[in-house]
Amino acid sequence: MFYPYLIQSEDEYRRHYRQSVEDPEGFWSGVASHFHWRKKWDQVLNWNFEEPRVEWFVNGKLNITENCLDRHIKEGNGDVPALIWEPNDPKEPHRVLTYRDLLQQVNLFAEVLRIQGVRKGDRICIYMGMIPELAVAILAAARIGAVHSVIFGGFSAQSIADRVDDAGAEYIVTCDGAHRGSKEIPLKPVIDEAFAHCREVKKVIVFQRTGAEVFMKPGRDVWWHDEMRKVEYSGQMQVDAEEMDAEDMLFILYTSGSTGKPKGVVHTCGGYMVWAAYTFVNVFQYQSGEIHFCTADIGWITGHSYILYGPLCAGASSLMYEGVPTWPDAGRLWDIVKKHKVNILYTAPTAIRSLMSFGLEPIKDKDFSSLRMLGSVGEPINEEAWRWFYENIGQSNIPIVDTWWQTETGGIMISNLAGVTPHRPGWATLPLPGVQPVLLDDHGREVLSKDEDGLYKGNLCIKAPWPGILRTTYGDHERCRLNYFERFAGMYFTGDGAMRDEHGNFRITGRVDDVLNVSGHRIGTAELENAINMHHAVVESAVVGYPHDVKGQGIYAYVICADVVEDHHARRQEISVTVSKMIGSIARPDKIQFVQGLPKTRSGKIMRRILRKIAEGETDNVGDTTTLLDPLIVEEIRLNRIF
Ligand code: WTA
Repeated sequence: MFYPYLIQSEDEYRRHYRQSVEDPEGFWSGVASHFHWRKKWDQVLNWNFEEPRVEWFVNGKLNITENCLDRHIKEGNGDVPALIWEPNDPKEPHRVLTYRDLLQQVNLFAEVLRIQGVRKGDRICIYMGMIPELAVAILAAARIGAVHSVIFGGFSAQSIADRVDDAGAEYIVTCDGAHRGSKEIPLKPVIDEAFAHCREVKKVIVFQRTGAEVFMKPGRDVWWHDEMRKVEYSGQMQVDAEEMDAEDMLFILYTSGSTGKPKGVVHTCGGYMVWAAYTFVNVFQYQSGEIHFCTADIGWITGHSYILYGPLCAGASSLMYEGVPTWPDAGRLWDIVKKHKVNILYTAPTAIRSLMSFGLEPIKDKDFSSLRMLGSVGEPINEEAWRWFYENIGQSNIPIVDTWWQTETGGIMISNLAGVTPHRPGWATLPLPGVQPVLLDDHGREVLSKDEDGLYKGNLCIKAPWPGILRTTYGDHERCRLNYFERFAGMYFTGDGAMRDEHGNFRITGRVDDVLNVSGHRIGTAELENAINMHHAVVESAVVGYPHDVKGQGIYAYVICADVVEDHHARRQEISVTVSKMIGSIARPDKIQFVQGLPKTRSGKIMRRILRKIAEGETDNVGDTTTLLDPLIVEEIRLNRIF
C-alpha cells in the first residue's frame, strides 16, 4: 500500500507540522481524503474546549471496518496477512489470518451478534484473552455499529461489574479462560461472579479457548462456535457494514483518573480512525510487507490503536501474542522476533527492564537482523533501559521511537519518527503534526523562562484539538470537562509534567496528579484507597508511588486499622486480596505500612508530599511539617518505614 501522507524527511516533517498548525482544516482534510468514506464531511472541524465540544469530519459517513478490511481486499491485498497470532505455548501452531480470512470471520460474528439482538449503539463488553477472536469480536461490533468496551483480562469481577453498569452494556463476549505463561486464567467464572455485583446482561457469548468446564446459563449464555456454525450453515456470510456518522461512538475504554472510579473514555469513528492510521504510518514509518509486533494487551489503548485499528487501516501485518515475554523463558520475545521476522517491535519500558534483569544470557545467539526499528510506550523510559534496548536488541544501529500519548489522545502525540527525526534517550522529542503542546505553570501561565539547566518545565497541556482526542467520558460529560478542560482554561490538560529544550523537544517527567503508573498500568490512588478501605479492619489509608526497578512505580500504602495488628504479614495478605477483588491483581500494593495516623493539615487534607518522600526513602528531609495537625505522626511513620 502507498501512503500519500507519509512524512519522509525532517524538512517535510517541519513543513507538515507548520501546515497542520496554520491550516488544520486543510491539513486534516487532505489526510482524511485518503480513507474510504461513504459520504464526505461538510465541515472538517467544529470545536470549543470550554464545553468541551470537538467534532471532526462533521456529517461524514463511514464504517471503520471497511477501511480496515474491505478496502484492502478490493485493492487486491486480500491475501496479505492481517493478523499473525503467536500462541502462549510455543509448541502450539501459530495462526495467520489474511485480510480475506479476517473479513470472513468478522462478517460471521457480526451476523451472530445481530441474531443475538445487538443493534447499532448497543454496548458490548469484551473480556477475552489475546486470541484472534478478540480482534474478530471488536471488529464485528464496529461493523454493525455497536460500541465495544474491552475489559483487560486482569481485572476483577467487581471491576467488570462497574464497567458493565456504567456502560449500560447488555452483551458480553468472553472466553472460558486464557493462557498466560504457565497459568490458566479463568474468565467466564469471573463474569459469572460479576453478576453478583451488577445487573445481569441479555447475552453472554463464550469462546472456548482452554476447554475448562464452565457454567452456562440457559437462555443467556451461548457458545461462540455453536452460533458461528449456525450462521455458516445459513449461508448468511456477507454482512453490510452499518453506515456510521464520523462522530458516532466507536468504543469506550475505561481508565483511571485522580478521583473516583475509572471513567469511560469515548472515541468516535472518523477522527479516531484517521489519527490511529496517520500516527501508525508516520511514527513507525511502516512499509508494505513489514511485520509489526506490538506487545501490548488489547485491553489497553495501545492494543486498540497499534495492534488493531492503526495497522489494519494501513493494510499492515500485525503480530498478536497471547502470552508473556518471560515464558517459557526470558528469550521468548526474541524467539518470536526471529520466527516471524519481525520488523517493528513496540513494547513498554517495564517489559524491557524485566528482560534486562535476566542478564544477557537469554539474548545470546538470538537473531535480531529482521528488526528495522524499536518503540517504547506507557511510561518514561529511563536511560539505562533505553541503552540496553538500543545496544542489545537494536545492535546499536536502528532507531527507537519513544512515543508519548494517553488513552484520551487515541494515538501517539509526541514522538520521533523512526529514521526521519532523531531519537534521544529519555526524550519523546517532537509533537506530531496536529499536536500543539504547551507548558503551563501551576497558575496557568505559559512557562517562558528556562530553568537553571536550560529547560522549560511545567504542566503539559495541548492547545487545540487533534482528530483522536476523546469526545467525552461515557454518561457524564461534566466529568470530562472537570477532568481535562477545567484546570487550565481553554486547554486540554494531560495530567503529565514535561520539560522542553530550546529546539522544541519534549521529555515527559510523569504524572503530576494522583495517578500511579505501575508497569505501564494507570491506577488512581483514590481508587486504590477505596479498595483498601473495603477491608473490614481498615479505617483509613493513603497510597503513594515510589520508584521501582522493574515496574517503574511501586505502590506504597499507609494503612490505619481499627484494631491492634498482631500478625502484620497475614493482615497485609488480606488487604492485598481485598484489592485484587476490588480492582485486580495488577493493583496489589508492594508495601503496606500500618500507621497510627496520617499527616494531615488542619483542614484535614492528607499531605501526600510527605508520604511520598518517606516512601521514596528520603527520610531525613521530608519538608515543612509545621502546618500539620500532628507533626509527631511523621516521626512515627518515618521510623517504621518499610524497605
Ligand atoms: C504515561 C498509554 C513517558 C504518561 C498509551 C501518560 C508516558 C500515561 C509515555 C497514559 C512515554 C505514556 N513517556 N510517559 N513515552 N507514554 N506515558 O492512558 O504518564 O495507559 O499520561 O496510555 O502513561 O497511560 P495510558
